[in-house]
Order: sequence, then C-alpha cells, then structure tokens
Amino acid sequence: MNKDKLVIFDTTLRDGEQSPGASMTREEKVRIAKMLEKMRVDVIEAGFAIASQGDFEAVKAVADVVKDSTVCSLARAVDADIDRAAEALKGANSSRIHTFIATSPIHMQYKLKMEPEMVLERAVAAVKRARNYTDNVEFSLEDGSRSEFDFMCRITEAAIAAGARTINVPDTVGYGEPGEYGQMFKRLIENVPNSDMAIFSTHCHNDLGLAVANSLSAVMNGVRQIECTINGLGERAGNASLEEVVMAVRTRCDTFPVHTGIATEHIVPTSRLVSSITGFPVQPNKAIVGANAFAHESGIHQDGVLKHRETYEIMRAEDVGWNTNKIVLGKHSGRAAVKARFEDLGIVFDTQDALNQAFSRFKELADKKHEIFDQDLHAIVSANSSEMQEETVLLVELEASSKTGEKPHAKLTLQVAGEDHRAEAVGGGPVDAAYKAIESVVNSGADLLLYSVNNITQGTDSQGEVTVRLERDGLIVNGIGSDTDIVAASVKAYLHALNLLESRSNRSHPQRDGV
Ligand code: KIV
Ligand code: ZN
Repeated sequence: MNKDKLVIFDTTLRDGEQSPGASMTREEKVRIAKMLEKMRVDVIEAGFAIASQGDFEAVKAVADVVKDSTVCSLARAVDADIDRAAEALKGANSSRIHTFIATSPIHMQYKLKMEPEMVLERAVAAVKRARNYTDNVEFSLEDGSRSEFDFMCRITEAAIAAGARTINVPDTVGYGEPGEYGQMFKRLIENVPNSDMAIFSTHCHNDLGLAVANSLSAVMNGVRQIECTINGLGERAGNASLEEVVMAVRTRCDTFPVHTGIATEHIVPTSRLVSSITGFPVQPNKAIVGANAFAHESGIHQDGVLKHRETYEIMRAEDVGWNTNKIVLGKHSGRAAVKARFEDLGIVFDTQDALNQAFSRFKELADKKHEIFDQDLHAIVSANSSEMQEETVLLVELEASSKTGEKPHAKLTLQVAGEDHRAEAVGGGPVDAAYKAIESVVNSGADLLLYSVNNITQGTDSQGEVTVRLERDGLIVNGIGSDTDIVAASVKAYLHALNLLESRSNRSHPQRDGV
C-alpha cells in the first residue's frame, strides 16, 4: 500500500493544559516539549500566547529551544491574538499560527453573537493577517462537527483561498460518532473546490469516549493530521490520546493508509513525564501507557504468551518504551554521571545552583533506595521546579506514627513566611493526621478534591508519588510530592499545592477567565 504521511499535532501544552488543575510552568512546558521533539512529533502547540504573560513566555521559550518540530501558538481570529502569537514564535526554526473561530449556529448565535457572513469575513481576515507572518497557517472551524455543511464548505474554501494550509474541523464538544464524522470529511474534501491545497485535520474531544475512533475514521476519509495529547489530557474528558492514535496506525498498518514519523519508544517515558508534571495519574488499564497494558494475569494468557508471544500480544512492550527503564544510577554515581543522565532525559540545568540542588536530592534518595530509575530523576526535577522555590510554607520537621490500637498521630514544624510553627494532630491515618496538623497552622480554606498515591518504580523501596488536588475560589491546583516515605510524600504534595494556590491566585487562566 502506498502510504501518506499522517501529521501528528500534539496539543498537550495547550488543550491539555486547559484541564482544570493541569497548568504547567514555563520550565515544565519546555521539558515536555523537548520530549515531544525527541519523539519526533511534527507540530507542538505550545500554548495560547495572548492568554496571559505566562502563556506568552512559555510559547516563546518552547519556540526558542525546539529545533526539529514545528512550534505553534493558538490565536482567536482577531488581530491582537495573531500578532501576539507571531511575536512569541519569532525564535522558532519552523512556526505555525493556528487561528480559529466558531462556525456552528449555536456558537455563532449565543457565544459570538455574530451573523455567519461576519464570521466568514473574520476568518478570512485572520488567515490573511497570519500569512503576513508565516506560510504555515492553520484555520479551525470551532464546533465544526455541529456546523451546517454548506457554511462549512464556504468558510473552508475562503480560508484556503486566503492562505490556510491546514483546515481543522474539531469535534469540540465530543458529540460526533465515527461514521458521521468520517463522512463529513469525505464530503467536505469532495465539495470544496480548492481542498487539494490544504491538509485536513481532526481535533476530537472524548466526552463520549469516541475521540480516537472519530480521529481514525476521519483518517480513513482523507484526513492527514490528527490533533492529540499525551495520555489523552485535555478539556473535560480530554482529547484523542496520541499514544493510542499512533499505535493504532502502526499496529494496523494493514488497514490505515498512512504512517507517522513518531519514535514510539519514547511514548511511555513521555507519558510518565506528563503525568508527573500535571499530577494526573494514568489509570492502570489505560491502553499503551497504563501499568497493566502489557501485564498478563490469567494463567491461560500467561501460558499462551510464554509459548508464543503473539497469542495474546499485538504490540511489543519495548516498542512503546516499557522495559527501557534500565537501572541507571546508584549511590556511588558522581555528579557528572547524574548530570549526563539528566541531559539524556532532556533536562538541562540553567544554573550551577539548580544542578547542585538536584544532585543533593539525588544523593538523599540514593541513600534510601539503591537503584535510581529515570522516573525517579523526573520526580526529583518536578519537586525542584522553580515554582516550588516560591514557597511560602515550608516543611521543617515531620514525625508521624501509627500503632495498633492507638490513634495515628502526626507532629510537625512548618515555616510560614520565615517563622516556625509547631503543630500536632490525630487522624484516621498518619496522612490524615499530618494534613490536620498543617491546616491547624495555615487555615487555607481550600477543599481537597483528590488524593492519590502511585509508586514511581517497582518494589517496596520505590518512591511514592502523591498527587493532591486543591480548590479555592474556583482555582484548582495539583501538588506533587515524592519520597520513599509515603507520609512525607503526602505532606510535600499538600504543601506544594498550598504554595501553588498562593502563587497562582493572581495569574489568569485561559479557561477560567473565558479568554
Ligand atoms: O476543541 C476545540 O475546538 C479547540 C479549538 C480551539 C481547536 O480546542
Ligand atoms: Zn479542543
């Protein structure tokens, strides 16, 4: 079969970040972007430059460091957005401006309060303005899957004539179903006279669990770009997941008329990185990247796999990066070896001080567990990220105990704005007791939405990684803490979340603020 290239457009840093609580710092976005580049993602949507100064700087930082992938910024179909996107992308080797406007009757009438003709004019003007900055312009018909077909044809034709080279028709609300969504593309490509001048693209949300199926159905009907995210992160139920799309196309190469350029062995490490930065754990039974995705529990399956792997396995775990988790370092490893391994993972320290901090965390950890894995190194950097250093609440000392027949008890010292405070409490367990003790000092007024523990590597000496999601006044944050001691990891995660609540209270968020 003669195969076309399927462009993989990753929007983890933009749509993924719009998941409540998933916002990332500039440094974190750069780390993820470097992994995406290593994985040979074609286009990285680094953010929405106009949304805030932080978003602008993150897009700029990604544009400045990524050399092999195209870097993209989202922009509404308004001049200021497009100019801001172009400004942020100035340093990129290859850049794309992605401009959008809603085209469904319900969005045009109630959200935009605009007549279709006006929407069409705005789309054309936006594409033309973006073309003044770059030849690589994408136009999206927001809520495309609920738009009227004739209007879609007209606006698509006009956008292509104005210079758009990618036409994206999102299933913004996750309403589409595979047959209908695929047919829509087929008809669109057949009916738009200049459709051969553009690549057609999908962007599917997962509200009905159909995002990947819809994206693949579109591919069978002429689409050659899929917009997706690592671990399916994204608004509400998320976006089509990159790992599922890529592995479906690769594993069923007998069916799909396309190939991707993705280096699939980086999928699992990237999934781990995104999970540890955002604090969104990956469910164990998640396809490709879940801990159980390649585990065989039943005797019949195990027997079959041992006799002949293909009896129950359609993909090789190592092809997506499982088992590449070699033991890399231990307590005798020196600074140069640790630094080199960090660099292999795309983590470069800007200052000697940052390297020193990471190295001393490494040494502390290596004293507690003798095998240090890549995931441990990611956890060390997450815990040391610059946002952590803007701490207003710090842990000085922690003592927690639980004994059969006695109430679990925690005693701790916190430093708040430079002053030491001691507190103690009892609780349902040592973690509960520690959180009560913290709250007796800080009185945060935040609601705990989620508490989850994952072991980062195998074995009982693994670091536990705890995610804590807190909400206060509509602002949601995820705190992460890791330690070989679960109570210590839990306290670190809680304090991380409290510090994020403080530092982000004054920052705008594209979703919350309705930009
Ligand atoms: O879901 C959507 O429609 C979007 C567009 C802005 C591409 O994210
Ligand atoms: Zn979206």
